[in-house]
Amino acid sequence: MRVICTERSQVLGAHLAHVLQVPVVNVKFSRFPDGEHYLLAGDLDDETVIVGSVVDNDALVQLLLLIDACEPSRTQLVLPYMAYARQDKQFKRGEPLSARVVAKALSRGVSEIFTINIHDPGVLTHFAVPAQNLSIAHDIGSYIKSLNLKDPLVLAPDDGALAFAGQVASVGKWEFDHLDKTRLNGTEVRMAPKTLSAAARPVVIVDDIISTGGTIATAAGMLYQQGATDVYAACVHGVLASGAYARLMATGIRDVICSDTIERACSRISAAERIAGAIRKS
Ligand code: R5P
Repeated sequence: MRVICTERSQVLGAHLAHVLQVPVVNVKFSRFPDGEHYLLAGDLDDETVIVGSVVDNDALVQLLLLIDACEPSRTQLVLPYMAYARQDKQFKRGEPLSARVVAKALSRGVSEIFTINIHDPGVLTHFAVPAQNLSIAHDIGSYIKSLNLKDPLVLAPDDGALAFAGQVASVGKWEFDHLDKTRLNGTEVRMAPKTLSAAARPVVIVDDIISTGGTIATAAGMLYQQGATDVYAACVHGVLASGAYARLMATGIRDVICSDTIERACSRISAAERIAGAIRKS
C-alpha cells in the first residue's frame, strides 16, 4: 500500500502514511501555460490511498487527475473536506445539485471513499461506491482538554450542531449548549447560550466548518459582554474565507483551532489517526 496526495493535502497525507507506516508516492505537479493542470505520479503500488481535500476548483481538478493516474491500482479515496457538499439541495428548477455532481465525479476509479465530518451525511448517498463519514469530534475534545481550561462551556452555534458539541464535550464531561439568536429589532440580534450561562467561565464554540466566521465573530463579542472569561473557536474544516481568521481574532477570540482536513497555520488537530483506523478496518 502507498499513500499519494494532492498539493493541498500534503501534510495530512504524509502524516497518514507515517501512521500507516507505508511510503508516500512522489508526484510532480505543474501547470501548462494556459493554466491546465498536469501531474506525474512516481512509483505506484497495486493498493493506493489517495488523500485530497477539495478546497477549491483547482483542487478538484487535481484530485480527478490523480485518481485517473492511479488506475488500475485498487484505490481508496480520503476526501477530508469536500467543497460543494453544502450545496446539497435544489431550491429552484434550473439549479444543479452540486454536491451530487462532485460526488459522482469523484467516485469514478475508486473503490471506497472516506469523508470527515461532512456537513450533511446525506451527501454520502450520491457517491457511486461505498462511503464512510468519520468524525474527529473526540480529537477536538482531546485538544481542548490539553488547554486545561477551568470548567469550559462547549457551545454549538446553532441547535443543528448541538450533537457535535455534545460529542466534543463528552471527552471532558463538560457542559454543552447551543447559541440562541433573538431578534431585538430590525437591525439588532442578541446571541446567548440557550439554557446555560457563559458568565465567569471560558467558552469554546465548536462547529463543523468556519467559513466567513460571521456567526462566531458576532457570538464571541456577545459572550464576552455576558462575562465569559475567554472565548475559543474550534472547528473541523477551517475554510476561513474572506479574512475570517483576522476577523475572528479581532473580536478578542483567544484562539481559532482547526484540523488538517484543510491545511492552515492554525491546523492543530490531525485527522490522520482517525483515518488510519478506518483504513486498517476496511
Ligand atoms: C453551516 O451550516 C455550517 O455548519 C457552519 O455553521 C457554517 O458554514 C459557518 O459559516 P460562517 O463561518 O460563514 O458563519
